[in-house]
Amino acid sequence: MTRHFLVDTDLTPAEQAEVLDLALELKANPYAEAVYAGEGAGRRTVALIFDKTSTRTRVSFAAGIADLGGVPLVIGAGESQLGHKESITDTARVLERMVASIVWRTYAQAGLEEMAAASRVPVVNALSDDYHPCQLLADLLTIREHKGPLAGLTLAYLGDAANNMANSYLLAGVTAGMHVRIAGPQGFLPAGPVVDAARLRAVETGGSVLVTTDAAEALAGADVVATDTWVSMGQEDEKAARAELFRSYAVDAAAMARAAPDAVVLHCLPAYRGYEISADVIDGPQSVVWDEAENRLHAQKALLVWLMKASQAAQADGE
Ligand code: CP
Ligand code: NVA
Repeated sequence: MTRHFLVDTDLTPAEQAEVLDLALELKANPYAEAVYAGEGAGRRTVALIFDKTSTRTRVSFAAGIADLGGVPLVIGAGESQLGHKESITDTARVLERMVASIVWRTYAQAGLEEMAAASRVPVVNALSDDYHPCQLLADLLTIREHKGPLAGLTLAYLGDAANNMANSYLLAGVTAGMHVRIAGPQGFLPAGPVVDAARLRAVETGGSVLVTTDAAEALAGADVVATDTWVSMGQEDEKAARAELFRSYAVDAAAMARAAPDAVVLHCLPAYRGYEISADVIDGPQSVVWDEAENRLHAQKALLVWLMKASQAAQADGE
């Protein structure tokens, strides 16, 4: 069976740990895995499709695939027939005959599911409206580097608690056995099915879930404090209203005073200083956001290697 990575819970807790272990190995020894080249190698090209803009995801995937001996093929919005002249399924049927993997940043999660259903090569979610699972692998790697083993740590996410990052913090965090607290205003909290899925996963790992409108409750003694833009891609028209709505969930010095004194601060970037995070926090000593950005590279290399190997092993077993 081909393995895809569309949502954080597509990796079991043990598999997530394997990917993170491999990411640390690849960070220490960046050219150790040449899965797309060398003896007996198969396909080398990875399609990177971007329906939304990107700096980190685009560059980290392209550089990581090159490090692995592969060839990144970046397809920008409107550059292929996908979405206007050709269906997702027909696109998948063509690409899966040519490339080693399909990495796609898009809007609807359902589109990714359709692509995966028609593809015999791994499909990776490079951000959708609902989830940003590749970002979370980098975030977990960064937390592990700065705080040690993930299980039992407390992570507080503040701000737009209904967006892709909040959902992924919930699902990936509890998969790692963390206590995940999500705080945002009423009407901007994670949807019921996401919370239910996170609670189910937490039972397996010993993690826990708290969803609250009280930022102070989420922050109390937290080991990790995270936030994200209040205006996700596609929501630009709501900028003024959102700035008002989320103001009391900003990660500033007052918020940080409620977290553990040695808490680290994460932000997937791009960041808007003076809105979801203050300049003194993101540019201060507790911020690990530049390590977090770099770790996109290492985590995604590990993910691609892991998905290829898992898919090949399953296919060899006749699954
Ligand atoms: N964090 C992140 O995904 O950044 P980009 O939108 O620049 O890819
Ligand atoms: N929530 C943000 C994340 C950007 C990496 C967005 O979707 O725009």
